[in-house]
Amino acid sequence: MSLDIQKIRKDFPILNQQIYKKPLVYFDNGATTQKPQLVIDEEVKIYSEENSNIHRGVHYLSEQLTQRYEDARKVVRKFINAKHDHEVIFTSGTTESINTIAFSFGEKYVNEGDEIIISTLEHHANIVPWQILCERKNAVLKIIPINENGELILEEYEKLISSKTKIVAVNHVSNALGTINDIKRIIEIAHKRDIPVLIDGAQSVQHGNVDVKELDCDFYVFSGHKIYGPNGIGVLYGKEKWLNEMPPFMTGGEMIKKVSFEKTTFNELPLKFEAGTPNYVAAIGLAKAIEYIQNVGLKNIAEYEKELLDYATKKLESIEGLKIIGTAQNKISIISFILEDIHNYDAGMVIDKMGIAVRTGHHCAEPLMDSLNIEGTIRASFSFYNTKEEINSLYDALLTVKQMFG
Ligand code: ALA
Repeated sequence: MSLDIQKIRKDFPILNQQIYKKPLVYFDNGATTQKPQLVIDEEVKIYSEENSNIHRGVHYLSEQLTQRYEDARKVVRKFINAKHDHEVIFTSGTTESINTIAFSFGEKYVNEGDEIIISTLEHHANIVPWQILCERKNAVLKIIPINENGELILEEYEKLISSKTKIVAVNHVSNALGTINDIKRIIEIAHKRDIPVLIDGAQSVQHGNVDVKELDCDFYVFSGHKIYGPNGIGVLYGKEKWLNEMPPFMTGGEMIKKVSFEKTTFNELPLKFEAGTPNYVAAIGLAKAIEYIQNVGLKNIAEYEKELLDYATKKLESIEGLKIIGTAQNKISIISFILEDIHNYDAGMVIDKMGIAVRTGHHCAEPLMDSLNIEGTIRASFSFYNTKEEINSLYDALLTVKQMFG
């Protein structure tokens, strides 16, 4: 089935506007995606008609909204095909999800001299929490290297694993280069040695089907705002056995069973990891966003975005002096590139003046940029609401950049 992109674009009110008197071309979807009207309407409806704190009141509004929140959890559970609803924890986003796991898992299982494996491709959110854990526990961080295409070298990964390895944490898709990692293989290799694996899915869930049961990952995390949902909501999926054993990260209301000044006992999953008032409005909005993309069809999205990626790759490659950074065989619709002798920030300023939103810089992946020996890149990240005409506009803008600085 081919998508009616013009019809889809009408669902996203923000796209229909001019920036500097030019039609907005939004190519910063890796940073955040735009929201369909039905997600915006859902949030307005909750605040106008349904708002009440959840899991607390016996009154009508509280009970209704508690049910809607728990229904949203079911939508997420089905979306990633988790076994149990209580394996889905709502957090504020990928960053909080990873911090929760790094702290709680680390508290329980990581000791002096133990090892944690991450990769060169990681976002700071999947580096710093592990670094802090290593400092706290005197553990060692080991890094999977990449080849010249920006792909993880799995033979090297295998060599890094030892009897001291406690967890492997890698992204599904690199936010900076678009590389799709062979996580199935990465998980299999770790599981042969009974080592759990965390997958950072912040850049993958919005581009295709994810099945945590099939992958057999131990943890999978993602953010609502990158999957057409609201800000301030994210998901931490964890296998029940880990989540049951791990201590809570945040403590306070709702995550408790019984509190006295002498001792506190903790609630069951998932509430054990949801201290305080959760962002129930955003959780319900996230469920709406998931239903929206499921209606469009994840397979259709993946196919169309691949078409955009191939088109953009050809077009951009034809520009003299433009070098694509990250040429993995399996890539999501992200293109990172540099222009010979032109600073990415200067280029970004000019591109912006054409009404085109791209991200420039290190993309919160400084160690990756260091390993590539570059300061940063210009990154265009496409969504299914983007068009080939918009890619042509980026191409024209890049020619202008070259004229101005070349
Ligand atoms: N992690 C987001 C990005 O890659 C912000 O742009």
